[in-house]
Amino acid sequence: MTMKIATILGARPQFIKAAALSRVIRKNPQFKEIIIHTGQHYDSNMSDVFFEQMQIPEPDHFLQISSKFHGEMTGRMIEAIEKVLLTDKPDVVLVYGDTNSTLAGAIAAKKLHMKIAHVEAGLRSFNMAMPEEINRIVADRISDFLFCPGKQAVDNLTKEGFLNFDSGVFEVGDIMKDVAYFYSPLERQPSFHVPEKFVLSTIHRAENTDDPDRLRSILEALNEISVDLPIVLPLHPRTKGRLSAMDVRLSPSVILVEPVGYLEMVYLLKRCSIVITDSGGLQKEAYFFDRPCITRRDETEWSELVTEGYNKVVGVDADRIIAAKNDFVSKKIAFRKDLYGEGKTAEKIVEILYESLNGKSI
Ligand code: UD1
Ligand code: UDP
Repeated sequence: MTMKIATILGARPQFIKAAALSRVIRKNPQFKEIIIHTGQHYDSNMSDVFFEQMQIPEPDHFLQISSKFHGEMTGRMIEAIEKVLLTDKPDVVLVYGDTNSTLAGAIAAKKLHMKIAHVEAGLRSFNMAMPEEINRIVADRISDFLFCPGKQAVDNLTKEGFLNFDSGVFEVGDIMKDVAYFYSPLERQPSFHVPEKFVLSTIHRAENTDDPDRLRSILEALNEISVDLPIVLPLHPRTKGRLSAMDVRLSPSVILVEPVGYLEMVYLLKRCSIVITDSGGLQKEAYFFDRPCITRRDETEWSELVTEGYNKVVGVDADRIIAAKNDFVSKKIAFRKDLYGEGKTAEKIVEILYESLNGKSI
């Protein structure tokens, strides 16, 4: 029997994660994948570039929904995804991570009594002010297959009583490790000049971009660090908008560039000295490419990286960011490669889905 999988995508990290899983799904003739792009991210350097570079098939449905307001965005997505699911009748709906597209896909599918597979399940920041925390908790609770990237995620679900629910919890490793390993040899040099030694940085988390004091403190730290070590800062459009409305002077050694494609990101990750970010995905990629990471947040979902000493979570205080950078440049870290699986997460997910829904292995 051919199994129909509907994949819901909307934001940059989801295109990147889907690149690995889509390839494995398409290799197996037992599956047919339907890709539904909500339109949450729509600039070509936030969306098209990943489909092109990573050879993700064109979406079957493009819903063109984006908005400033979470309720409006999520509501319109639920309505549009429901229509597609009613017509296409998939056997399982695949959602990734914790964005509004994830939440909308999960709710639309559940109300139609469809099976849901949540990739990157079980993560928690324990900060309910984050829209992502709300999205992931709801998506987890209504999913049938909870694909966890590591032990910590399984423990979180266990503590919340998921073993008593009618859903399956599976530790399968992190899909982003599959992506990093597969695309590493395909790295691409960016079109801008990359300094010999530099810090790779990104800023996009709402709590940082939408609070002028926090954003100012982050920029102050970058200016200071750039005196010794230039910063390459690909700017998320949300941050670009906020920066243009602020009266701040950035040092010329803070090199602002447009968002880059994944292959350019791999190039930068392999050559940078340190990553300083508030991104979820980048914290893990720093680890995959043996780079220490400073996280400008008050907590992280990826606590294993902190315990192992690969990541310092320091908030946005400029002095703390600078102290963390000084500490990392003064020592050499030995990265053990055993976190988040072996880079075979996509295969595991596909096998589990096929076996559970068909009663036999692929
Ligand atoms: C979203 C996710 C966040 C994820 C991030 C990945 C939610 C609640 N947040 O945050 O979890 O880490 O994506 O990057 O789902 N914009 C553009 N062009 C684009 C995309 C966005 O100009 O292609 C601007 C728009 O002004 C938009 C703003 O960025 O209003 C924010 O976009 P949105 O998708 O709402 O949130 P992100 O910050 O990208
Ligand atoms: N990324 C990219 N180009 C950029 C910035 C980030 O390809 O200019 C990639 C990054 O390498 C990672 C993913 O986007 O794979 C992370 O997405 P983001 O930081 O937007 O979201 P989060 O992971 O925090 O949800």
